[in-house]
Amino acid sequence: MGLTIGVDVGGTKIAAGVVDENGAILARTRVPTPADPQWAVGAIADAIKELREQHDVVAVGVGAPGYIDRDRSTVLMAPNIDWENEPLKTRIEDLVHLPTVVENDANAAAWGEFRFGAAASHQDMIMVTVGTGIGGGIVIEGRMHRGSFGVAGEIGHLNMVPDGLLCGCGSKGCWEQYGSGRALRRYGREAAAADPARGARLLELNEGVAETITGSQITQAAQEGDPMALDVYDELADWLGRGLADLASLFDPAVFVLGGGVSDSGHLLLDPVAKAFEKYIVGGVHRPRAEVVLATIGSAAGIIGAADLARF
Ligand code: BGC
Ligand code: NA
Ligand code: ZN
Repeated sequence: MGLTIGVDVGGTKIAAGVVDENGAILARTRVPTPADPQWAVGAIADAIKELREQHDVVAVGVGAPGYIDRDRSTVLMAPNIDWENEPLKTRIEDLVHLPTVVENDANAAAWGEFRFGAAASHQDMIMVTVGTGIGGGIVIEGRMHRGSFGVAGEIGHLNMVPDGLLCGCGSKGCWEQYGSGRALRRYGREAAAADPARGARLLELNEGVAETITGSQITQAAQEGDPMALDVYDELADWLGRGLADLASLFDPAVFVLGGGVSDSGHLLLDPVAKAFEKYIVGGVHRPRAEVVLATIGSAAGIIGAADLARF
């Protein structure tokens, strides 16, 4: 098979690239994600057309942030963007006339890291993307684990807290309400509002307003060593480590790969997550256990993984 195009559909941007069999990106483009799903399909098609003008491509893989059916064609529901029963495959194929598969965004990232990145030397891995939500991709014995209905690995919606915070999926207490980039922001805002003296640096970064503190401000303060920002990271990491321990009980992977926007902060996220994982894993240090590592192909994993999955 020749070159394929991988598309990573995010809440804010659509990134796409032409990818070869070795996972190398030969050309790439990105456009903002239109709010209306109808327009989003057009934007995806435009990105594909643009890339196609430069290279001969044979297929397209699209990673989308939601529940995808087993036929790899329809977005059944998307907790963080406004898509429901969206027949993405047919819509795109009608516009670009190339065989297209639709994959879950985190599955695509998992596949990218499994084939060409942080988990390339392992057969059993779990990708955890920490962004607006929490995404998951599970590779077992070298194969993408899809489940009976195509929606295995939807780890962001594990029930973590009885009667907890309302989630975009409609349930309460989902893991992604406690372990995502959004949660990080919430912890920072709450902490700074509750203790403005200790939150002085966070408040200073946001012109004194606690309610709108951003994730990057929290990250900046934490990088400077600000104690409150570091606590905020610890709080997030604690929830993440707790979930990883449960996933280890279920799947016993060799490695957990942390990706998604929040993982751009590197060891600031990785180190406390690895520590929390050790704290919560059943049997603690008296057993062999998965390593927790950072994604190595990072933001390109979604493009590369989706492109590669289009070959299978
Ligand atoms: C969705 C997943 C997606 C993840 C990351 C979750 O809310 O349910 O399908 O992979 O967010 O985008
Ligand atoms: Na997934
Ligand atoms: Zn949920």
